[in-house]
Amino acid sequence: MLERTLVLIKPDAVQRGLVGEIISRFERIGLILDEMKLLIPDEQIVKKHYPDDLNWLRNAGGKTIETYQKFQLNLMDDLGTVDVIEIGKIIRKWLIQHLTSGPTIAMILSGNHAVEVTRKIVGSTIPLFAELGTIRGDFSIDSPDYSTPQKRVLMNLVHASESLSEANREINLWF
Ligand code: TYD
Repeated sequence: MLERTLVLIKPDAVQRGLVGEIISRFERIGLILDEMKLLIPDEQIVKKHYPDDLNWLRNAGGKTIETYQKFQLNLMDDLGTVDVIEIGKIIRKWLIQHLTSGPTIAMILSGNHAVEVTRKIVGSTIPLFAELGTIRGDFSIDSPDYSTPQKRVLMNLVHASESLSEANREINLWF
């Protein structure tokens, strides 16, 4: 099942000099690097990449709420709201700030089940909980209860498309 997927190496990873390490992890498993470019994204492209839709906002806000509950912390103290959509909007605003803050690498990877394989290599959203052996698990210990009081997004190094339809949409957006 030959697929193509989109990966972004975000500004935090570029600044830390992890570009070569990250690309080599995709290459060594057998994914093919089809296209790659380095750019400082403008606000417009990032806004389209993370659309202002309710599902996305609910999902992002929900993960922050879950983490706060897990550590028995109070979101109201840090964000002034406990509304899942409002929290999603705040995260989206911080994502736009982060991705436009410096050089980012966009690339297209292809291979058998490339979407799923790439997500597996990247690891789960919150680095603190991501498995060792994944990019996020090996190179970051960030978590929402640490990043949120600092009014910034999670430094989780990479983005990878979540599904084939998302991959097609994102490839058209960035290339
Ligand atoms: P999401 O699409 O849920 O995760 P993924 O990147 O694994 O597909 O969230 C998009 C980005 O939003 C995520 O990579 C980092 C940021 N984010 C935060 O900064 N804090 C949070 O609590 C969450 C859930 C996401």
